Amino acid sequence: MEKNKKITILGIETSCDDTGIALISFKDKKVEILSNIVSSQTKIHEQYGGVFPMLAKREHQKNSVPVLMAALREAGLLKTATSRIPAGKLKTINFILGREQELLKQIIPFLEKYEKPDVDYIAVTNGPGLEPCLWVGTNFAKVLAYYWNLPLIPANHIEAHILVNFLQETDEIKTASFKKQNFPAICLIVSGGHTQLVLMKNLNKYELIGETRDDAAGECFDKTARVLGLGYPGGPAIAAKAAEFKGQPKIKLPRPMANSKDYDFSFSGLKTAVLYDYLKNKEVDKAEMAHEIQQAIIDILLKKTINAAINYKAKAIILGGGVTANQELRKQLAERINNMIPNTKLMTPEAKYSTDNGLMIAITAYFKLKLAVDWKKVEVDANLRIK
Ligand code: KG4
Ligand code: ZN
Repeated sequence: MEKNKKITILGIETSCDDTGIALISFKDKKVEILSNIVSSQTKIHEQYGGVFPMLAKREHQKNSVPVLMAALREAGLLKTATSRIPAGKLKTINFILGREQELLKQIIPFLEKYEKPDVDYIAVTNGPGLEPCLWVGTNFAKVLAYYWNLPLIPANHIEAHILVNFLQETDEIKTASFKKQNFPAICLIVSGGHTQLVLMKNLNKYELIGETRDDAAGECFDKTARVLGLGYPGGPAIAAKAAEFKGQPKIKLPRPMANSKDYDFSFSGLKTAVLYDYLKNKEVDKAEMAHEIQQAIIDILLKKTINAAINYKAKAIILGGGVTANQELRKQLAERINNMIPNTKLMTPEAKYSTDNGLMIAITAYFKLKLAVDWKKVEVDANLRIK
């Protein structure tokens, strides 16, 4: 590749309930965020108190083209130029989107109306996540890569939550860099779908050291919020209610597996305990209960994260995933690091980058240009492991 050439990457994320598309360009290690559009399906899933995969798939199909157009427009890369798709190419596009008919209906007029944008790579989350949702983004990316003749970079969603932390703000232009002294790092990735502790040995070298054996921490927030009638998504709802409580809570919930010697987690028992407690005593102070739920989840996450950081002599702790937007979690973790391992650096994403977005996928691709392949070679793996 030509040295000092400006490279532009289009990143696509659809692994759960957010349709996220971003454009970044970089030159001489300076990354410029051209756009980062996220369409969230929160309202759709509210009635279920969690993400319903087939409904999410339908929404991703509806949202993909409008979100792409918005991202291209904001980046100044949406240019009109009418052309017909040749019959042979139409056949291939039909084949790729055989299971995403709603998206197919929107993508054909889009490709005919707009010219190929000035983009060099397309990147897409190919796992882990909800399989039907992952396929929408991946097949969407495949069609774009095929029709625009661009290389495709598959990105691991968990790794993307980690790597977005390496985007450093300096004035308007951001730089992305890996500092050797930050490794090894312990990464805590907690969202509605995942709870994992990852040892980051170096760039491109990871080891999954622990994960949840049942529910994810975000799922625990969502399910307990539903029990208490606090709405969806549960994390912010519980956090807001918990902030109303002042004093010492009398309710005492269990901290499942907090003292086990491994780095695994279990949150389903906590949900059950809340349910029983609430059913027994409907008069419970919801603010007190929310406070105790949040504190129980924080206690468990912090205990294992700090233990891992000590045992692996981590130079940094890196956070990612929707649950790490929790202010109380961030505050208590920072305090504990300060008290117990003050030489360990805490890396947290800006709140808007802790939840799912296309930027984290584009940034992951920025570090992995060598992994670019032909669109035919990319497959979805809903249980993709980080390694
Ligand atoms: O990473 P994310 O946007 O999507 C995936 O699940 O992949 O995470 C969403 C999860 C939900 O379970 C939501 O309740 C939780 O993150 N969440 C929070 C907060 N904001 C979002 N949990 C605790 N505190 C918050 N402030
Ligand atoms: Zn996520």
